[in-house]
Amino acid sequence: MNEFYCATRILAGEAGQVLSSLKPKRLLVVTDPYFMENGTARRLAEASGAESWELFSEVEPDPPVELAAKGTAQLKAFVPDTVAALGGGSAMDCAKAMVYFSGLQPRLIAIPTTSGSGSEVTDFAVLTHGKGKHPLVDDSLQPYAAVLDENLLTQLPKTLIADAGFDVLAHALEAYVAAGASEMTDALAKEAFCIAFAHLPASYGGAAAVRGRIHMAATMAGVAFSNAGLGLCHAMSHALGGMFHVPHGRLNAVLLPTVVGCNALVVGDKYARIARSAGLCGAADTVAVRNLKNGLCRLRRELSLPETLRQAGVDPRKLRGHGEALVKAVLEDPCCKTNPLTVEDFMVRKVLEEVAGRG
Ligand SMILES: NC(=O)c1ccc[n+]([C@@H]2O[C@H](COP(=O)([O-])OP(=O)(O)OC[C@H]3O[C@@H](n4cnc5c(N)ncnc54)[C@H](O)[C@@H]3O)[C@@H](O)[C@H]2O)c1
Ligand SMILES: [Fe+2]
Repeated sequence: MNEFYCATRILAGEAGQVLSSLKPKRLLVVTDPYFMENGTARRLAEASGAESWELFSEVEPDPPVELAAKGTAQLKAFVPDTVAALGGGSAMDCAKAMVYFSGLQPRLIAIPTTSGSGSEVTDFAVLTHGKGKHPLVDDSLQPYAAVLDENLLTQLPKTLIADAGFDVLAHALEAYVAAGASEMTDALAKEAFCIAFAHLPASYGGAAAVRGRIHMAATMAGVAFSNAGLGLCHAMSHALGGMFHVPHGRLNAVLLPTVVGCNALVVGDKYARIARSAGLCGAADTVAVRNLKNGLCRLRRELSLPETLRQAGVDPRKLRGHGEALVKAVLEDPCCKTNPLTVEDFMVRKVLEEVAGRG
């Protein structure tokens, strides 16, 4: 059986107007200090038309469990009927965890301000506990609505555009060839990949007008991967991110072309199809796959992203020292299960060797 599911309404428009159309009565806005200090969170709460509202604005990147617990206490004391998460994956995941831990059932409205994680349409949240990152997975974490407002993207820093952009490309490309892929997820993944691939250079160069399209692509890729699954690139990115604290999208940028080379052994025809759709031609599949790998490497350079783990700040000696623990963590990651090629330890070692960088 193959099921396609998305319980989240996807609403595009000015966030305050969309939120007020959902008629919240008691609204809790969960956000980070950036959106508190520039006044966006307060303006959103005022525009919502809620009878009463509160702000929880302490979200930090990669939110720790303790922070979610603090927010949960505020949520339980206020008892909102609506929680609006305003921010990137960190604010959305913190809000999801707060709702989950509270045991209450407010509607969760996710308002992403980065174009990458896809958290606005997924049923999981990632929390930091000690030195590791841990996923919380539950149907109740699926937001009631995702609000896509391109006006929130005008001040995006370049590094965030690049890092999050390669997360979208990795979500789309991995979902497209994943074991759980279907015609529904293929349509979303292919379109998301093509949009992000075509428009990231302009967005990175300062063209705010294209950011709305990449924002939609990030959400489409989120729906695709939450149904189809991911693969080796994400399994390795999770393991390396936990050990070396390099941003997730940046690790995907280092890993993705090499993982494409590995998986092309079994899904070369699908990679060739998505490459041609993205304008990377090649009559023979092998040529189209080579063009896909080269296209990803070229885009990575255009976005000033690292080509090796060494360039991303991972010392090759430390990498070698953690080698066996890394391989174990990768093989245990659930994303391996949906990689099109069965992941074995020698493959993980080979990819690590290729992306490590000299030293
Ligand atoms: N739940 C999921 O499905 C899922 C999937 C992938 C990643 N994640 C998680 O998402 C988190 C990363 O999220 P992220 O990459 O979106 O970044 P983030 O939420 O951690 O934000 C990073 C920084 O960017 C700033 N920022 C956000 N939007 C901005 C904007 N529009 N303009 C200017 N600055 C802005 C924030 O204030 C913050 O300082 C990680 O914790 C990761 O584990 C979750
Ligand atoms: Fe990702």
